[in-house]
Amino acid sequence: MRRFIVAAAGSLALSTLAFVSPGLAGAPGAPAQPGLGAERAQPIDRSLGALGKRHDLGVGTAVDMSALADDPTYRQRVASEFSSLTAENVMKWETLEPQRGVYDWTEADRLVAFARENRQRIRGHVLVWHNQLPAWLTEGDFSSGEMRGILRKHIHDTVRHFRGKVAEWDVLNEAFEEDGTLRDTIWLQKLGPGYIADVFRWAHEADPRVKLYYNDYNIEDVNPKSTALYKLVKELKAEGVPIHGVGVQGHQTVNYAPTSMVQNLARFNRLGLDTAVTEADVRMVMPADDIKLQAQANVYSTMLQACLYTPHCTSFTVWGFTDKYSWVPGWFEGEGAANILDENFRAKPAYDALRMDLALAGGPRHRGHRG
Ligand code: XIL
Repeated sequence: MRRFIVAAAGSLALSTLAFVSPGLAGAPGAPAQPGLGAERAQPIDRSLGALGKRHDLGVGTAVDMSALADDPTYRQRVASEFSSLTAENVMKWETLEPQRGVYDWTEADRLVAFARENRQRIRGHVLVWHNQLPAWLTEGDFSSGEMRGILRKHIHDTVRHFRGKVAEWDVLNEAFEEDGTLRDTIWLQKLGPGYIADVFRWAHEADPRVKLYYNDYNIEDVNPKSTALYKLVKELKAEGVPIHGVGVQGHQTVNYAPTSMVQNLARFNRLGLDTAVTEADVRMVMPADDIKLQAQANVYSTMLQACLYTPHCTSFTVWGFTDKYSWVPGWFEGEGAANILDENFRAKPAYDALRMDLALAGGPRHRGHRG
């Protein structure tokens, strides 16, 4: 794969595009780029998704369904920029089954239809978590046996509903504490640690072809949490539990870039697992300034490069792509500006950094692990 493409001099249409940010310097009448001898560097006029394809890498975003319905600019960018989509909220239990036994697939199905129209993959998010559960479940007084039946049914029904439509599922989300102990969730309390193997088996029963992921935050680097997870998935693999991948969420701040992410992803890769960056965003204490935006680009780039460097790191997903619709200000007081485009959909340095990484990295890598 060539690192960049050269076009013959005199190609007027191409010479008016910017090198990395179409739209920034791409105004008609802008001066031509200086030539490289008889040839000229061709601008990167392709989307993140298209650039990712050259590496067999899905490039995705979480999708906010209200923004998708109400904001044409948002919708257009979701359609054109990404090759993979994740439901930011609408595949969570509280949305899918607001009353016991009464499913509402409307919004999730709308996302699936949108992705199909635009030939995009779907990452399913999320089957088992301790947040965004329906009240009937968290407030109900169920025995261990009942809870087990409820969880099994939720996984079976949901995975079956999306069979053939979702390429991979985040089966289990955020089951560890920072010190590497198991998080004390209702699932651990009611079912004991064996629930982890069970939920992967149940998902596999419902769709033997879909890829099954464990997903968590603060597991980008080698640390007590990622090491505890490493030990667990090693055991699960040894026992033949159907687990295929580990998703590192990638919720970061501008103050710190991962330092051992290549090494960390590599050890999961050696276990025969795919990896993915599933929820990248890089927040900052507001207001934003040039230095923070540059640091942000660096953190995004560190994560994407680690993924590109790792065989079988199959996708890189950002948790929203515009500061206009971000979960960060609502969850982290005083912080924001965590995405790659600003509130007016203008490219930030982080967007250019991701494009550059995808354009400059070597050729296609291995596809996901089999089985
Ligand atoms: C967040 C959504 O972005 C918010 O809109 C919602 O209010 C709360 O959840 N880890 C995850 C995601 O796995 O599902 C979370 O998404 C962010 C943290």
